[in-house]
Amino acid sequence: MLCNTAEFLHQVRELTPVPAARAATRLRASLKGVKPKEIKPADRGVLLGDHLPSGVELRGSDEDTYLAIMAPRAGKSTALAIPIAEQAPGALLLTSNKADVYAATRAARSRVGTTWVLDTQGVAQVERAMWWDMIAQAETLEGAERLAGHFVGQITSDQADPFWSQAAQDLLVGLFRAAWWDGGTVRDVMKWLSDPAEKTPLRILYEHEPVLAEQVDSSISIAEETQSGIYQNARTAMSALREEKVLAWVTPDKVNPRFDPEHFATSKDTIYLLSKKGGPTAAIVAALADAVFTAAAEAGERAGGRLPEPMRAVLDEAANICKIADLPDLFSHLGSRGINPFVILQSYRQGVKAWGEVGMDAMWSASTKKVLGVGLDDAKFAADISSLVGAHFVNRGSYSKSKEGGYSHSVSEQREQVMDAAEIRAMKKGTALLLATGLPVAQIALRPWYEEEAMATSATR
Ligand SMILES: Nc1ncnc2c1ncn2[C@@H]1O[C@H](COP(=O)(O)OP(=O)(O)O)[C@@H](O)[C@H]1O
Ligand SMILES: [Mg+2]
Repeated sequence: MLCNTAEFLHQVRELTPVPAARAATRLRASLKGVKPKEIKPADRGVLLGDHLPSGVELRGSDEDTYLAIMAPRAGKSTALAIPIAEQAPGALLLTSNKADVYAATRAARSRVGTTWVLDTQGVAQVERAMWWDMIAQAETLEGAERLAGHFVGQITSDQADPFWSQAAQDLLVGLFRAAWWDGGTVRDVMKWLSDPAEKTPLRILYEHEPVLAEQVDSSISIAEETQSGIYQNARTAMSALREEKVLAWVTPDKVNPRFDPEHFATSKDTIYLLSKKGGPTAAIVAALADAVFTAAAEAGERAGGRLPEPMRAVLDEAANICKIADLPDLFSHLGSRGINPFVILQSYRQGVKAWGEVGMDAMWSASTKKVLGVGLDDAKFAADISSLVGAHFVNRGSYSKSKEGGYSHSVSEQREQVMDAAEIRAMKKGTALLLATGLPVAQIALRPWYEEEAMATSATR
């Protein structure tokens, strides 16, 4: 087992209350000059759990990036997503495939700012009270490419011929740009997609961006059969928006307010991005999250490097509903701009499926705090963790009979795995391993919100 002495608490000292508070005063504009001892626990950073067995609270800082891997019902929502959301000091972005986190945090978050909800599939049965200008993302060519990438990425599989996804991507980039130049909406894009003979988007593009127009023109002015295949692929990528109900969330509307990523970045608002599963609808979640990240990173740059108050981005079920293709590469960039991504997965393999071996490895290395919970029922991964946790030396004493008839005592140092793979797989529910860059592995007790609530209620009685 892990050695749990005071010395070990000392090794993770920078995550304990006073050093954590000191880091917060350095990273948050509103805490400048405040004495670390006067800083409330919620302001000391991202709650990870309590160090075992000392019980001392450990928190990650506002420049960390986070990755949690735990089996279903291990406490991802109750012990990570909900407490982090409730204590978020600035803007909060949350993805979820269930209503639980939304239901538990909505009241607290609406006391600090506006709560926005994107729920195109009725996950929480929330009536639409916002719209997002998706086409605004196509203001730049790069923005249009990223937008198209989220949709095409959802229909791309490893086996598919990349020609079709690339062609669908190029077509969508052209159509998004044309809609943007023309002051159009996603509805126009859908209309243009339904008819390959429709020349309006090309005409608009030739007027404003002849080079791009020629590229799009030459990639679609081909044999009719191929052309209709390209259009079919692009339609499949955008199929979520065939439904009026879904389309309404991303097209201008005179009644409801517009969700503005730029304004959001420096607010204390919350956006809940809800989606049941992957596929075309989840592309909207990924696209909106990406728009928020871009706007927030730019706001951070404008503010001299990082956001004055950190933005928390809790990406629960990220591998299914927030599959931003280059999320692993964005990780450290976001951390340095004052945006804390907290990606929550059910297994390492789930991450590999979404981002590939290379991508998942990159995300693993780029996350400065990793929380590994119970139920890591993947023998290879458990063995990898065991070797990461490392070995330590233990002193083993032994007595041996000496020639003179007496006994001599000798002590020899032996190398032992701190936790073997079987111990990792059999960790107690409610506990987790914490891997923090540059620090030895610690064991923590998770802090589910319902227990904190019970404690708070009994304390006030
Ligand atoms: N309000 C509550 N009171 C007591 N136990 C709860 C409460 N909410 C959830 N749990 C339990 O906590 C455990 C972790 O749940 P959850 O965090 O939702 O898991 P997941 O990792 O799938 O997100 C589950 O066993 C669940 O039954
Ligand atoms: Mg959950």
